Amino acid sequence: MIVTTKQLFAAAYGKYAIGAYNINNLEQTMGLFQGNVDSQAPFIIQISKGARSFTHKNMLEALIRAADGIFPEAIFAVHLDHGDEATCFDCIASGFYSSVMIDASGEAFAKNIEITKRVVDAAHAKGIVVEAELGQLGGVEEHVKVDEANAKLTDPDQAKEFVEKTGVDSLACAIGTSHGAFKFAGTQGLHFEVLEAIQKRLPNFPLVMHGSSSVPQEEVARINAAGGNLKGAKGVDENQFKRAAELGVTKINIDTDGRLVWTRVHREFFRDFPEKFDLRDPGKIFMSEYANFIAHKNGKLGSAGQIEFVRKMGK
Ligand code: G3H
Ligand code: 13P
Ligand code: ZN
Repeated sequence: MIVTTKQLFAAAYGKYAIGAYNINNLEQTMGLFQGNVDSQAPFIIQISKGARSFTHKNMLEALIRAADGIFPEAIFAVHLDHGDEATCFDCIASGFYSSVMIDASGEAFAKNIEITKRVVDAAHAKGIVVEAELGQLGGVEEHVKVDEANAKLTDPDQAKEFVEKTGVDSLACAIGTSHGAFKFAGTQGLHFEVLEAIQKRLPNFPLVMHGSSSVPQEEVARINAAGGNLKGAKGVDENQFKRAAELGVTKINIDTDGRLVWTRVHREFFRDFPEKFDLRDPGKIFMSEYANFIAHKNGKLGSAGQIEFVRKMGK
């Protein structure tokens, strides 16, 4: 059942965070639904601009509709990840997305407000929820490159002004994370003091944490042992998710970790079975491993076991 992120946030705020997982293909979609149903967790499916153009923008929609029928128990929102203005308008018009992210964080403050407000007005007219971003994460996004050294954390006073002026429903804040598998060069970590200051100014307002993959060292070691080269990869400590949730983070974005599961499964499979070439063999293993991974993450986020509560709230 497709719901809005707003409904999910109302149930979760201050208690746990909802996992927001990116998908690009069939195997990820099946593993994602299976893992969330297994762990009885509500969840958010994220589709990036790159994912929309990977095959055809209608393809993932068709996969999600099919999965919704195969897993009738599942409760989830469908969300555009890191949209520009044109893509947001396209998703709003499609009638399929229950939530969009407008990412104008690379623009100056006033311009970010202006663009975000236009998207909010159009989305709200159709009952669609909007996430925006303020501050800049380090690392690499599809269309934005920000040097980690210059990454700008979200200013709490600006966050309050931004939310008041745009009417946005949730805000992605830069608190020290970055996208991808190489998040921290040294001993940096999450800036909880920034979250605390934002929550003080915006009580009960849902915050979003991007760049939240934990890049498990065991996974990295297995990938490297099977021919990969991911030296120095490092992520966020997943045991910090609950503290972030208490401070108002209700959505935690995870993409890279899923890619690592895919890479490990396929590298090990073809190393161990060089004579095989049926794509379904590693595909089956991946779906099962990805489902286990999702269930594990939901345990760390605190969303595992929350599906019934969300279902009852919706009635
Ligand atoms: O934040 C970016 C997400 O991990 C999506 O990545 O733009 O390569 O699909 P992508
Ligand atoms: P990771 O690269 O840490 O998985 O972050 C994903 C993300 O923020 C998607 O918007
Ligand atoms: Zn992101």
